[in-house]
Amino acid sequence: MSSTSLRRTSLRLAAIRGQIPVIPQTRPFSPIRRMSVPTTMKAVVLETTGGPEVLQFKTDYPVPSPQEGELLVRNNISGVNFIDTYFRTGLYASPKPEVLGREGAGTVVALGPNTTGFQTGDRVVWLGTGGYAEFTAVPASKTVKIPEGLTDEDVIASFLSGLTILAFTKETYPVKKGDWVLLHAAAGGAGYLMTQVLKSIGAKVIGTAGGPEKCAIVKSLGADVVIDYRSEEGKDWVKLVKEATGGQGVDVVYDSVGKDTWEGSLEAVKRKGTIIWFGNASGPIPPLPLAKLSPKALKVARPTLFTYIETREEFEYYTNELFRLLLSGELKVKIHKVYPLEDVVQCHKDLEGRKTTGKPLLKA
Ligand SMILES: NC(=O)c1ccc[n+]([C@@H]2O[C@H](COP(=O)([O-])OP(=O)(O)OC[C@H]3O[C@@H](n4cnc5c(N)ncnc54)[C@H](OP(=O)(O)O)[C@@H]3O)[C@@H](O)[C@H]2O)c1
Repeated sequence: MSSTSLRRTSLRLAAIRGQIPVIPQTRPFSPIRRMSVPTTMKAVVLETTGGPEVLQFKTDYPVPSPQEGELLVRNNISGVNFIDTYFRTGLYASPKPEVLGREGAGTVVALGPNTTGFQTGDRVVWLGTGGYAEFTAVPASKTVKIPEGLTDEDVIASFLSGLTILAFTKETYPVKKGDWVLLHAAAGGAGYLMTQVLKSIGAKVIGTAGGPEKCAIVKSLGADVVIDYRSEEGKDWVKLVKEATGGQGVDVVYDSVGKDTWEGSLEAVKRKGTIIWFGNASGPIPPLPLAKLSPKALKVARPTLFTYIETREEFEYYTNELFRLLLSGELKVKIHKVYPLEDVVQCHKDLEGRKTTGKPLLKA
């Protein structure tokens, strides 16, 4: 027997007799930082701005690498928001080529260097960029674990839109019981959720929507007055709002339609009231002279969700509130349709063509 094997045998014997500690053969537990991930994936890529047809479905797009502070998420389902169309058309600037999509829900499959707070296998929902893809590298700071009891679909149908409407009804204008509220596009992704939240606060809601089917949905959510602003009678929706409020006008208008409604919103709001312009579904509103506000001493706001959830504390405050409303059943979601990723062009056509109610989703 060689001197090395003699030494090993005597060390083993000494260990068995308890004279020296036995060194464990298995490694201490450490979370797996990376599951097996392919190098390419399905994704929708935008190389230039334009109509829905500029959205290119690819099957060999490189899977991104998570950087410091990021997670790589395998998306189970992704949300489609009207803001995606603004980046597509160029109304909002963004670097190209670009994978659109501001939110997704799925599983963490890898962690970037020094990323903490998550493990591979966690079921999460995130806000970021690049959601129209199988995998997205997302900021851990804008990602949360999905609680037991909620499906990925429930959460993604209400995530970006739900956080938006909670921030705008709690902070931009804290809606009070008894307030008269005018909400445009009340059957849409954001509108469907906002109608419910406004009613649960005890506000009196006047919802506008395009067409009888959409109006029936808004009515079913408890809106006090519903106006089909595309119908002959509803075209004069300002008059109908005034009638409903005893000639006064509403305390607050939530207007995400923009170009087609902003002037009517100025008329429909009461003296000392508030207008919240938060979107451009029909196009942006032109520059507004402040003098237009003075006859009725109006307050106006032009909020964006991301300004309200900059800190982790703010982000968790609103996500916890959203999860509470979903888990308790106080907030119901409506999925318009789950489109396969390759049908993204049709999905954008439907959204811009005012054919959707509730939330359109994409599945890779
Ligand atoms: N500021 C923020 O941080 C923030 C965050 C989330 C959403 N938003 C805004 O909120 C709005 C709703 O977003 P969403 O994703 O939930 O979309 P959505 O409401 O599901 O879709 C937009 C709706 O706007 C209405 N609309 C009126 N005129 C239109 C036109 N000319 N073209 C297209 N649509 C028109 C349509 O409903 P009708 O047929 O009933 O009129 C349409 O369904 C958007 O303006 C979006 O930019 C803003």
